[in-house]
Amino acid sequence: MTAVGIDAVEIRTGKLELDLAETFAPAKGESPEKYTKGLGLHASSFPDTYEDIVTMGANAAHRLMERKGLEPDDIGRIDVATESAFDNSKPVSTYIAGCLEQVYDGDFHHANKGERKFACVAGTQSIDDAYNWIRAGRHRGRKAIVVATDTALYARGDPGEATQGAGAVALLISEDPDLVELSPEQGFGSADETDFLKPNQQFPSVDGKRSVQVYLARMREAVEDFESVWGEIEPGDFTLVPFHTPFPGMVRKAALLGFRHMTRNTHIEEELAEEIGRQPRHEAFDDEEAFRDAISEYTDKLKETDTYAAWYDDVIEPTLTISRQVGNWYTGSVHVARISGLKQALEAGEDLTGERLLVGSYGSGAQAEIHAETVQPGWEEEIAELNVDEQLDSRYSISFEEYEHIHDVHNHDTDTQADAEEFTTPDEEFVFDGWGRMGERKYRYVG
Ligand code: CAA
Repeated sequence: MTAVGIDAVEIRTGKLELDLAETFAPAKGESPEKYTKGLGLHASSFPDTYEDIVTMGANAAHRLMERKGLEPDDIGRIDVATESAFDNSKPVSTYIAGCLEQVYDGDFHHANKGERKFACVAGTQSIDDAYNWIRAGRHRGRKAIVVATDTALYARGDPGEATQGAGAVALLISEDPDLVELSPEQGFGSADETDFLKPNQQFPSVDGKRSVQVYLARMREAVEDFESVWGEIEPGDFTLVPFHTPFPGMVRKAALLGFRHMTRNTHIEEELAEEIGRQPRHEAFDDEEAFRDAISEYTDKLKETDTYAAWYDDVIEPTLTISRQVGNWYTGSVHVARISGLKQALEAGEDLTGERLLVGSYGSGAQAEIHAETVQPGWEEEIAELNVDEQLDSRYSISFEEYEHIHDVHNHDTDTQADAEEFTTPDEEFVFDGWGRMGERKYRYVG
């Protein structure tokens, strides 16, 4: 069977940076450690006045096409995953295609375009759609572009304000991919949940504490479902485990439960038994609460072991490096985690060709998805081409007052975006250019 997977990726961060420990925490009267240690976040990315989900997505897709030498005719599908859309009818993919057509001779008139919605898991679902389109043989040799783009803004004063972010990831899905092959095996954990939603409103209604519990519950279901088709998984099976990362502290919780699950009935559990005992088994308890207490005590001890710490440092920590600097990108977040892990491996001089990743995506509302990926021989070249560090380093650092201003500028109720003064100067990129006669957003390329 021909391999199908991710051929290349690009990221595009919002061009403003809010330092959470130095700027945001003091203004909120909070301890900087809540951010750096508790949530695991140092900074958030924000869009400048001329940026939005379309410009970030189009700029990422443009760099992807240029780097891979692609013309519009090579693309048979453009799907956008977002939870920040501003139009209930016309998909963001049409706006992005319109942008790209400004800089290419050809057009995307024969590409199937759409928009996927299921909170943050929609990016992975769009990759799925592209995978299935290729596997079904309907692609006529063409490739698919998936863009996951979001401005993850919360209402001011909401606890979620601590985890904001803005950016886009563009992914090229094709046969014989250069980066990773996707496994046909998948696991799902899906239930009707009311943890985070936006009922026709820009800023989310969130039950933050509950959302953390729902993430863990759905992820556990997805792992079990994945194992039913893949077979049981053990920690040593995967070199990196990129998770959806609303904030790195969330992944810290998920990784610990994942490690406990993967080590049950393995030699690792036996080796740890002398130090912390064996994992409590549900069937050994008559009382649910007593079991919960016992498993929670075991988990606390497991977290402190060198075995767990070493696994976490190798397999999870590298996936969090970019997220710590940019915050939550919703649909793009798990794809940022994959890039981060591969980038760290490249910088450490590791050879990952043929190694496996286990990818855990999640969307509120709620659904988790687990699949495996196999790293392809072209991965080093693909990752080496990224300009992530340059983008992060060149962000303009905003004060708390500037943060409040930019938050207002991007508030859809204020209509101030077109006139707001920018903090950075656009250069060879798509920018927001005001509204058209039917209320549509307009864009132009600044050369
Ligand atoms: N030093 C060290 N750690 C500190 C600290 C200090 N001085 N002060 C606080 N902390 C720790 C806390 O103990 C806590 O860690 P634990 O959970 O491990 O105990 C962490 O910092 C955060 O502190 P709080 O829980 O007090 O923070 P909060 O109540 O203000 O809000 C939140 C946290 C609920 C996650 C909130 O940011 C939120 O609502 N975020 C949006 C929702 C979200 O991201 N949910 C994640 C799952 S849903 C999802 O994944 C989808 C999505 O993308 C939105």
